[in-house]
Amino acid sequence: MAVEYAIKINNIIKKYKIKQRAIKSRYFNAIDDVSLSIEKGEIFGLLGTNGAGKTTLIKIMAGLLEADGGTGKVLKYDLYKEHKKIRAKVSLVAPTADVGTDNNLTVKQNLEFWAVVYNLDKNLRAQRIDELLLFLDLKEYEDFWPMSISAGMRQRLAIARSLLVKNPILFLDEPTVKLDAKGAKAVRNFIKKINKDLGITIILTTHFIFEAEELCDRVAIMDKGKIISCDTINNLRKRLKKYDLLEIECSSIPKDIIDQISKWDYIVKCTYNNNLLNIESLKVEVSIFEVLKLLRQQDLEIYSVRTKEASLESVFISTLNNGRNSI
Ligand SMILES: Nc1ncnc2c1ncn2[C@@H]1O[C@H](COP(=O)(O)OP(=O)(O)O)[C@@H](O)[C@H]1O
Ligand SMILES: [Mg+2]
Repeated sequence: MAVEYAIKINNIIKKYKIKQRAIKSRYFNAIDDVSLSIEKGEIFGLLGTNGAGKTTLIKIMAGLLEADGGTGKVLKYDLYKEHKKIRAKVSLVAPTADVGTDNNLTVKQNLEFWAVVYNLDKNLRAQRIDELLLFLDLKEYEDFWPMSISAGMRQRLAIARSLLVKNPILFLDEPTVKLDAKGAKAVRNFIKKINKDLGITIILTTHFIFEAEELCDRVAIMDKGKIISCDTINNLRKRLKKYDLLEIECSSIPKDIIDQISKWDYIVKCTYNNNLLNIESLKVEVSIFEVLKLLRQQDLEIYSVRTKEASLESVFISTLNNGRNSI
């Protein structure tokens, strides 16, 4: 069966003015030649550090911001000519979504208010709101003031609002960023449920790799406006987990020895702190022997040697820090 795309964009560019005191305006590419295809029914993650371009890209895909170059379709609509139609078919929960919650209205009254704003059929409103309160486990809090429920529940209220209109695509911009671990976990569970039970295509941004690991079918890693990798979590893990950690507890090591190790071909990183030599190596089985040999030659005392598998999180950060062009 042919793949059905919810979104397909090609070579998208977005320029922003550099904010600085200058006589001449200068621009930079906040989105720099990005192409992406997102299948219907996917949970797709945009992963990257602050300023990578995630929010800008989802605003473009949601029809809220016009790109300066490239082409694209969201559902069957053209990114430029039919952005109003796109806006009517997608929902977006921004990190500031909570701002749209009126603290002088109860949880349910908030949804009633937005149902009017969204022009929901009068006869359907009550039923739809009830469905969503139940779906997002907010029913027993329907008469609570928003200030008296947890941040996680308020985020669920913002998500409920975005689901009032039955749109096939939902953008979630950093859906768990302001939440504690418990609230974030609950929101992640609901994201899965929205995708599975309602069949909604979800595009979310996050800077937590574990969140992407838990939720997403596929992930695009963004850095400085570019996509440096786009793949399934499993394939990404295979490619990212190219190196392991070697931890050697030993007596004080001269700096030139650390510099020497750092220069070896298969060493990604070598640091020494509090008697602990930490090495990220692409070939940990070779590094053990080579490093131990060198340390012995220096007459250094070795107290313990351990190898560890690097977490996906640390590999991801190290990859970005090392400025590799592609993963
Ligand atoms: N309206 C704007 N005007 C100028 N620069 C902007 C604007 N919005 C975002 N930027 C810049 O564009 C880059 C990407 O921002 P953003 O898309 O918000 O990244 P992310 O969501 O990944 O943190 C950043 O350098 C940011 O400072
Ligand atoms: Mg952002």
